[in-house]
Amino acid sequence: MPVLSRVQKLFPVPHIMSFPSVGVDVSDTSLKYIQFERVHAHDVNLVTKYWGDLTMPSGIVDRGNVHDIAKLSAVLNEMREKTNAQYVNMSLPEERAYLFETTLPIDTPRKEIRGLIDFRLEENVPLSPRDAYFDYVIVGSDVKLRILHIVVSVYAQSTINSYYDACVQAHLTPLSFEIEAQAIARASIPAQQAGTYMVVDFGKTRMGVGIVNNGILRYTSTIEIAGEQISADMRAVLGDVPESELTHIKNIKGLSHTKDNEHIATILRGYAETIVEELGIRIHYWDTRDIDSEARTIKKVIICGGSANLFGLPEFLSQKLELPTERAQVWANVLSLDNQIPEITRRYSYGYGTAIGLALRGFI
Ligand SMILES: Nc1ncnc2c1ncn2[C@@H]1O[C@H](COP(=O)(O)OP(=O)(O)OP(=O)(O)O)[C@@H](O)[C@H]1O
Ligand SMILES: [Mg+2]
Repeated sequence: MPVLSRVQKLFPVPHIMSFPSVGVDVSDTSLKYIQFERVHAHDVNLVTKYWGDLTMPSGIVDRGNVHDIAKLSAVLNEMREKTNAQYVNMSLPEERAYLFETTLPIDTPRKEIRGLIDFRLEENVPLSPRDAYFDYVIVGSDVKLRILHIVVSVYAQSTINSYYDACVQAHLTPLSFEIEAQAIARASIPAQQAGTYMVVDFGKTRMGVGIVNNGILRYTSTIEIAGEQISADMRAVLGDVPESELTHIKNIKGLSHTKDNEHIATILRGYAETIVEELGIRIHYWDTRDIDSEARTIKKVIICGGSANLFGLPEFLSQKLELPTERAQVWANVLSLDNQIPEITRRYSYGYGTAIGLALRGFI
């Protein structure tokens, strides 16, 4: 497959969007998939056709790097057998993404934009242009200054090729690759909603952070705090209790300082404080970046990922960050909760934000 064809997978052309495709979220320890269908052309609500969660044996993907393409392909193959899928929209790890913003003269011919950005890669990302694939979006223009504002997302070719090859080995055709936070935004920000949101994916192995402006991902980074680390700290106090019990304590008692939860609440609050600090640094960075003059103040923090279930977390973040913080409504762009009950329970569905967003490609 020529390199260019692979690159084009990053920019799905509209006509292929109508193919029935599965959203596939690959994490270090899990592979989540979901597929929707619109039963009648006029239906507003989508129906969940397939969904599931497969365990990724350790060592296959580490911090977003694929170490064993054949084994990743085996897990994808298992997914294909369960869903009969042919086409997939697949997540790319934010840990391996580089995003930067640049400007070009407003009258730059479309066909020259790519080449001009290519020249700017080297000064903006720690990759040689020869080893990189990139995608770009024109996010606005300034008629007075006569410039276009452009957001560029870049991956090492080796990263994308490894996910691509794993799909092909599993007899799957990837229609698109997308940074996790962009997919989460599609699921959890009401369609066509303008403004700036911070999306936080608080998972099992890491916390992914994205800042999305008018639906477009402008910033992404990773924080090394996650569910499995919190569980390990809880076990140091509680002993070798099963994960389900820890999940129950996290979700029912969480940050609340009740008598029977003093010790654990102190540990969890320590994590919550660090999360506030880390998110605060990123919010400050965003607020002080002088890129363009449009209204870009973050109006809400949206948290998803299984660890978003932590009791008291949204309230804690709202108070300390002085920004409204909510758990994601991951079904908001799929169906109306007034007349349909999603197949995946609320708590579990927070971990499906990325997969849902990927599966929504082509529907909204
Ligand atoms: N009700 C729940 N259902 C599922 N996971 C939960 C729940 N409550 C808390 N969690 C925690 O959420 C984490 C799993 O979250 P999630 O499914 O988002 O992770 P992941 O996608 O597998 O990992 P990654 O961090 O690599 O993205 C676990 O640490 C788990 O303990
Ligand atoms: Mg995840």
